[in-house]
Amino acid sequence: MIPGELKERLKARVAASVTSREAAVDVLKELQRHYGWLTDGAVSEAAEILGLSPLQVDELATFYEMIYRRPVGKRVIHVCDSISCWSVGCAAILEHLKQRLGVGEGGTTADGLFTLLPCACLGNCGEGPTMMIGDNLYGRLTPELVDRILEQERKEAEEHGARPLQA
Ligand code: FES
Repeated sequence: MIPGELKERLKARVAASVTSREAAVDVLKELQRHYGWLTDGAVSEAAEILGLSPLQVDELATFYEMIYRRPVGKRVIHVCDSISCWSVGCAAILEHLKQRLGVGEGGTTADGLFTLLPCACLGNCGEGPTMMIGDNLYGRLTPELVDRILEQERKEAEEHGARPLQA
């Protein structure tokens, strides 16, 4: 269960919207921030707050790439594999990340820090290859730059403590 204060804030967000669907992504993101990923319980809570059925919420949640319906690591690495990034070598960057992290696409590192996910365009097409970690957007990636970014992100994630994966 989310704290009462958060629930009231989300209800107010929905009340201020023309339709509850308009507020749905904000509600889902807040619940995801609270739980780490969108658990079945969070879907039920979102449904109650939004006045939708759990199935309707699940349909919305599975449509958006940055809403996670499975446990993820403390930081999710989204690697763009759309056409502009593909044309400047995103496949090699993805392979490099797989090797460095020891995971495949969709995998989470054993320490629970990183989940690796290919994704559609991140809106940084002129600066590819591009990846996004949390709210940080990184462009013009090379294997060397990726290594430096991973080191920096790992340090920050460890300082804030790795969130244990939930079953
Ligand atoms: S194609 Fe990669 S950011 Fe747009």
